[in-house]
Amino acid sequence: MVILGNWKMNMVVSNAIAFSKRLREIDIPEDVEIGVLPSYVYLSEVANILEGSRISVGAQDCYYEDQGAFTGEVSPLQLKDLGMKWCLVGHSERRQMFYETDEDTRRKVVSLMRHGINPVLCVGETLAQREAGRMFGIISSQLFRSLERLKLNDEFTIAYEPIWAIGTGITAKPKQVEEATSVIRQIAERMHRNTRFNVLYGGSVNEDNAKNLIINGVDGFLVGGASLSVIRFSKIIDSAR
Ligand code: 13P
Repeated sequence: MVILGNWKMNMVVSNAIAFSKRLREIDIPEDVEIGVLPSYVYLSEVANILEGSRISVGAQDCYYEDQGAFTGEVSPLQLKDLGMKWCLVGHSERRQMFYETDEDTRRKVVSLMRHGINPVLCVGETLAQREAGRMFGIISSQLFRSLERLKLNDEFTIAYEPIWAIGTGITAKPKQVEEATSVIRQIAERMHRNTRFNVLYGGSVNEDNAKNLIINGVDGFLVGGASLSVIRFSKIIDSAR
């Protein structure tokens, strides 16, 4: 299993340092991989503290060019230079608030893979889309537009994050997660026969519901709010035991 903590735009440097030091001490089950995704400004600090531990570090976004006049952006080349292992791509908050398109996510995926960083491609539908019976169509269009005809590595990570479950306290039911992750896997495998897909679930995962969401077809979690507490995050990790 892979469990990633997306800190979003939270913490100040003192929290990030104290948090990472405490995180280093937690007990991680053998077959579970843990990663944290702090804001860009704390990546180095957190990576230094977690160096040599079983917890990897990644970014929440990137731009697709390596360098140049792109004020405010951070490139995969720079993330690689900091030793980042992961980078989220197409998170719904980026799509909704910062107008990230499938074409952008595609370019980011290509650029990250070129630098040996694992993209975590986020897909998911709004409540209105789900209620209109469009969940399948939305997810498949996001997957096709981002991944079709790319050359992927042997392994690739996708996160199913239904927008209605993010930060709302409403977790998708295990049956809904199973249905969506299996659709994602089928579509992705049809496009890329030689790639093994890790499909994570994200959306109000917490210490109380994590165990119920460890179901067939779910290879891990992308945790937001509950990853901001060492106690809650470590309980989620424990549930994977
Ligand atoms: P929450 O766990 O806070 O719902 O956030 C999920 C998420 O967006 C992770 O990327």
